[in-house]
Amino acid sequence: MAKIILTGDRPTGRLHLGHFVGSLRRRVELQNSGEFDKIFIMIADAQALTDNADNPEKVRQNIIEVALDYLSVGLDPAQSTLFIQSQVPELCELAFYYMNLVTVQRLQRNPTVKAEIALRGFAEGTAEGDTAQRQGIPVGFFTYPISQASDITAFKATTVPVGEDQEPMIEQTREIVHKFNAVYGETLVEPEILLPDNAACLRLPGTDGKAKMSKSLNNCIYLSDTADEVKKKVMGMYTDPDHLRVEDPGKIEGNTVFTYLDAFSRPEHFAKYLPEYSSLEELKAHYRRGGLGDVKVKKLLIAVLNETLDPIRERRRYYEGRIGEVYEILRKGSEKARATAAATLAEVRAAMKIDYFDDKELIAGQAEHFANTVKN
Ligand code: TRP
Repeated sequence: MAKIILTGDRPTGRLHLGHFVGSLRRRVELQNSGEFDKIFIMIADAQALTDNADNPEKVRQNIIEVALDYLSVGLDPAQSTLFIQSQVPELCELAFYYMNLVTVQRLQRNPTVKAEIALRGFAEGTAEGDTAQRQGIPVGFFTYPISQASDITAFKATTVPVGEDQEPMIEQTREIVHKFNAVYGETLVEPEILLPDNAACLRLPGTDGKAKMSKSLNNCIYLSDTADEVKKKVMGMYTDPDHLRVEDPGKIEGNTVFTYLDAFSRPEHFAKYLPEYSSLEELKAHYRRGGLGDVKVKKLLIAVLNETLDPIRERRRYYEGRIGEVYEILRKGSEKARATAAATLAEVRAAMKIDYFDDKELIAGQAEHFANTVKN
């Protein structure tokens, strides 16, 4: 069976380090491994609209931001098809059919949907700003796990590299595939989730130590931040609040600077930037004992992050000078994605017995049947 990747992001802002370690970095590795037959990377604008219905301009402006982030981390349009969700209308059609295979109760149990409903205050009618959303849960938002199952299955994806928060979505997709194949015959492919292997990358905390980087919390380091911005943000990062003097013993657990080092530092960084230590373990041991100040650790992190981000910044500058070309990449990618999704849709329609005009036997058989009725 062909090995196919599909994954994507909502265009609601620039991508940050959480996206990078949670999924982007892995995608580039997978792309360059040559092990996959096809790779589809989707800008999920239609999904972004499920909770931004009143803010289309935000989604529109962030398409290019996400595309630039993709290209600058090293996704290569010659190897990975980059496309825009809304430009593949077959995905909506597929979602409409899947809706018959999923219950309201099952969607209500989806942990990601549950958490997001609470976060946005939909159910209580306390959502900020938007009047439509104040009145309850938008149906489109509620059903987005079904739409996500379409995104994945339309491309017969075998592998979905995503962050931990997407696990319930992939689970729901697998259930839909299972159900579809049981009812209509073997048609769709059950995808596997691919999570980061490093615990620190599963969910990178914000610079303030909160569980997750989030634009609204203003605790993100963006892929497009300058070296200076990174420096400022790291210097202000949350560490161990009880580590007041350099001599004090410090805590590693919950110390954001060390979590980032877990996610980003490599052994060679020590030789280069902090040769007194041979490894992160040695640095942690010293911090625990006491006698190691936050600033020294933060300076290492700044160097490591900027080393990671420099080639990304360089590619970004290249594409920022070629915005027309970037849209052309997305247009071509969307056309290619559309052709692939249409081929799956043809199979789905046949399996679901809604391919009337292609079914010569159906027409011939019924012609004969009715001709006989007329005679008798
Ligand atoms: N839900 C994903 C996010 O919030 C975006 C997404 C939409 C996606 N469709 C997908 C991810 C299909 C993987 C596969 O970022």
